[in-house]
Amino acid sequence: MNANRVILLLGALLALSGCERPPVVAVQHGYRGTGMVEIYNPRLLAQQASINEVPASQPAASQDGPRASQIFKNVKVLGDQSVGEFTRTMAAMTQWVAPQQGCTYCHNPQNFADDSIYTKVVARRMLEMTRHVNADWKSHVGTTGVTCYTCHRGNNIPAATWFAAVPQNPHSMVGNRAGQNAPAMSVGYASLPNDPFSLFLAGSENIRVAGTTALQSGNRQSIKQAEATYGLMMHMSRSLGVNCTYCHNTESFANWSLSTPQRVTAWYGIRMARDLNDAYLTPLTSTFPAMRLGPTGDVAKANCATCHQGAFKPLYGQSMLKDYPALMGSPHPTAVAEPGAASAAPLAPAPAASATSLQAMAN
Ligand code: HEC
Ligand code: HEC
Ligand code: HEC
Ligand code: HEC
Repeated sequence: MNANRVILLLGALLALSGCERPPVVAVQHGYRGTGMVEIYNPRLLAQQASINEVPASQPAASQDGPRASQIFKNVKVLGDQSVGEFTRTMAAMTQWVAPQQGCTYCHNPQNFADDSIYTKVVARRMLEMTRHVNADWKSHVGTTGVTCYTCHRGNNIPAATWFAAVPQNPHSMVGNRAGQNAPAMSVGYASLPNDPFSLFLAGSENIRVAGTTALQSGNRQSIKQAEATYGLMMHMSRSLGVNCTYCHNTESFANWSLSTPQRVTAWYGIRMARDLNDAYLTPLTSTFPAMRLGPTGDVAKANCATCHQGAFKPLYGQSMLKDYPALMGSPHPTAVAEPGAASAAPLAPAPAASATSLQAMAN
């Protein structure tokens, strides 16, 4: 073996060391013969388990007595709770969002009714957002629901958020990339557009890429757009710790009748993420201090990883919500996405829950 070959071999070993070390476990997910198999690595799953443990709930409080709105001065969201439940919710919020700083992360200790600290103003909107998810996005979160902990996990800012990417600078010292992508963690180190989020998890841009007509006339989809779609799909797979076949049958990625029920849940997840970003997080931009904003001045926003953090269901499907009635909220039907209704993007029909309508919209 000559020296060149040894170098090549070493290079190959180095390149492969970026891959996962065995053993891996394969679990059949679809029908036999469809190749719909999930590959798990027990070592990585064990690491994953530790970030998905649920903290003990605060001791139960009395639901009787006067309402918070009757006792406190400046309560706009939690007024319907008993004083005991209100105070318990404050203690839980502190444990979930500001365990190091305590109540004064949001409160002026001289006057708890004061709204002068921005974190309190943000937290009030977060309370409304959490209630909205639990009441109006059951199509995604079921009765498991979410609490502040689902996203925050004891951090002031959730571990996984996104900002709009900085546009490429053609006069950069490191060279002009002429619009080419570079590998990015956000899309599983694939060389795909590294910000599919601005396109697809805000606004209502069409995600579908498969042509819907035999001839290309009138087909809006382009290879460039397909790259962005694949970028989003890489993010979704990574965020949930699953392969593409968790949702798709590779015989046809587009076909809903061949897809798993999880793909329908994911479809609602995309609409929910857009709703949270557009209706709750982006409007808070001017409330945040500049140091919290991204390189282009936008607010940190949510994607699939914000809640899922590598698990197919956040916290492996354990419900913390059941112990926190103050976060349940009541439904506001107008805000719910209509299953079966056409979305803002003309080429994206909504999947409906029933098997017949899934069949009808195959392709
Ligand atoms: C993450 C931010 C945050 C933390 C931490 C926090 N609070 Fe609050 N607190 C709020 C928000 C938001 C409201 C207003 C709720 C509403 O409008 O329904 C509030 C309201 C209150 C009020 C009502 C004041 C009034 O008269 O209007 C009291 C009392 C209170 N909190 C106590 C506490 C205590 C005690 C702690 C610590 C154990 C605490 N809070 C921790 C965000 C927070
Ligand atoms: C869907 C995920 C999600 C949920 C659920 C959620 N948050 Fe947040 N929260 C975020 C994101 C994303 C940010 C970051 C915004 C930024 O920095 O621009 C944030 C920021 C905050 C901040 C500002 C912290 C700082 O230091 O600037 C507070 C306070 C906060 N959240 C409180 C809460 C409370 C209280 C709850 C539960 C009632 C809650 N959040 C639920 C996603 C979430
Ligand atoms: C968690 C579920 C989920 C995973 C995992 C997933 N997808 Fe998707 N995929 C979807 C959903 C939902 C849509 C439809 C999005 C829409 O129309 O809004 C979609 C759409 C697509 C489309 C467009 C189909 C069309 O109609 O043109 C392609 C291509 C695709 N996915 C490829 C992939 C690839 C490749 C992977 C793995 C890297 C993957 N997906 C992983 C849920 C998933
Ligand atoms: C606000 C938090 C939150 C966000 C953001 C979120 N999810 Fe979820 N997701 C959940 C919860 C909670 C569940 C569990 C629901 C249950 O137990 O039925 C779930 C369940 C799912 C499931 C079903 C898994 C299964 O095995 O049945 C899929 C698929 C999924 N989410 C995909 C996504 C995708 C894709 C995104 C991003 C576009 C996303 N989620 C964003 C909270 C979230």
